[in-house]
Amino acid sequence: MTLNKFSRIYTQDDSLPASQAMLIGAGLSDADLRKPFVGICSTGFEGNTCNMHLDGLANEVKRGVAAQGLVGLRFNTIGVSDGITNGNAGMRYSLVSREIIADSIEAMAGAHYYDALACVVGCDKNMPGALIAMARLNRPALMVYGGTIRGGEFKGQQLNIVSCFEAYGKKVNGQISEEDYQGIIHHACPGPGACGGMYTANTMAAAIETLGLTVPASSSLPAESPAKLQECLATGAYLRRLLELDLKPRDILTREAFENALVVITVLGGSTNAVLHLIAIAHAAGVKLTMEDFQAVSNRVPVLADLKPSGQYLMEDLSKLGGVPAVQRTLLDYGLLQGDLLTVTGRTLAENLADVRPLGPGQNLLRPLSNPIKADGHIQMLYGNLASRGAVAKITGKEGLRFEGPAIVFNSEEELNEGIRHHKIKAGQVVVIRYVGPKGGPGMPEMLKPTSAIIGAGLGDKVALVTDGRFSGGTHGFVIGHVCPEAYDGGGIALVQNGDWVVIDTANNTIDIQLSEYELEARRAAWRRPPLPARQGVLLKYIRTVSDASHGCITDLLEEAYVPEPALRPAGR
Ligand code: FES
Repeated sequence: MTLNKFSRIYTQDDSLPASQAMLIGAGLSDADLRKPFVGICSTGFEGNTCNMHLDGLANEVKRGVAAQGLVGLRFNTIGVSDGITNGNAGMRYSLVSREIIADSIEAMAGAHYYDALACVVGCDKNMPGALIAMARLNRPALMVYGGTIRGGEFKGQQLNIVSCFEAYGKKVNGQISEEDYQGIIHHACPGPGACGGMYTANTMAAAIETLGLTVPASSSLPAESPAKLQECLATGAYLRRLLELDLKPRDILTREAFENALVVITVLGGSTNAVLHLIAIAHAAGVKLTMEDFQAVSNRVPVLADLKPSGQYLMEDLSKLGGVPAVQRTLLDYGLLQGDLLTVTGRTLAENLADVRPLGPGQNLLRPLSNPIKADGHIQMLYGNLASRGAVAKITGKEGLRFEGPAIVFNSEEELNEGIRHHKIKAGQVVVIRYVGPKGGPGMPEMLKPTSAIIGAGLGDKVALVTDGRFSGGTHGFVIGHVCPEAYDGGGIALVQNGDWVVIDTANNTIDIQLSEYELEARRAAWRRPPLPARQGVLLKYIRTVSDASHGCITDLLEEAYVPEPALRPAGR
């Protein structure tokens, strides 16, 4: 069987001597030119805990690949740290980076005819970016997750990255000293690895493991564990098998696999960013996945895991209990997962889990079906005159299911941060942050700084937040994001004014401004689009190409493929 069916296009063609000369110049032997080429992409870079160790892991992958008689060729692409950019204008590049990562991996592997692909990634957008590229290229491929960070500790308090944002709110409110504030900053991130709660990186890693595009347990092995190095070394054997079976990402990324992933992120109480990313990955794989599919899973699947941000445990705690495979096995036994789906091991999910013990009594991290944290899913799709094409709520149940109150409106994150500093936010208000959507932001920035500051100020359970931007996986509270159409496109969120009464009912999936259609029409007629928020470079390209959030903020949506999400309300639940 020919395993080098792509690379042989230039390694074995007598009329392409320059291609061969360059490879020989790069250190390959004549024998190497006859072997399959594996592109090994790392999003490693030095300035972020999630990415600082990835090049080292990629080198281990290369060793494992070589041991299998394959040629591993390392290359890098970018990453943007959400931890570093949250709360500043750098955040505008965060979601944009997902597209750059996908495009750059596609361009590298496509241009150089790699026969297979291994992507070593470790931060929020790295993972969906890599998956999008794998699905577009559709050559044997797998993802290696860089792993989760260890928890931090200061004066007996367990810490993670979100502790820093919340500490700021406490400092502003005079609840902690400068010394304690600095202590938290210096102890929150004790080494390499992605943010440790069930935030976006761990959510996406668990989802992608469930999709079948990582080897089992990849998503829950801590970054610094010896097992993570073993996983990297073993990658070569999996890639060889994928090549021999000619098993490709689109064979694995089926609609049923996405349904499984939605079940797992719901049970784990995962990040709302998964809505954007899974819709985008599905698009790249040719699978139709919509916000309604998330709602359908939320209607039948409960939240069971007591994980941060709203719960108490970290991914490293889950790892000690058997990791994501133990959760999958439990859900398989409950009949919530479809087990007969292929994975990168060449076996089905059920076969991978055959020897895994389910999570039962003796642990408190994953509750049984009979005693869920929330009886239905925490990710709820809302519709109404404030979000005619939908919004995404993250409701774990601790916040209640309904919120109504007067709006207080901010036209940027900076405005809101000023408002928080000047104590303008009062209990009972619906805090609206707008013009921070995919085009208006641009880049649909996350609102972790203001949401954490609000929690730190003791208002977390007393206000609701509504935005056309995103929330970090680390955000908790009564929060609604991804409002469509966004304010920059003149959606209902652009028409809200201070004092308007807003009603959010997550039990009935509605979000409305209590105004007559007549009044809304008058405001709509008076509305003017603000100036372009970026006038050159990648942000301008993004504004011109990005789809709305209901379509996953993708940048390659063919016009004829555009189907608006159903306006108005969903059918009854
Ligand atoms: Fe990388 Fe949080 S900043 S996972």
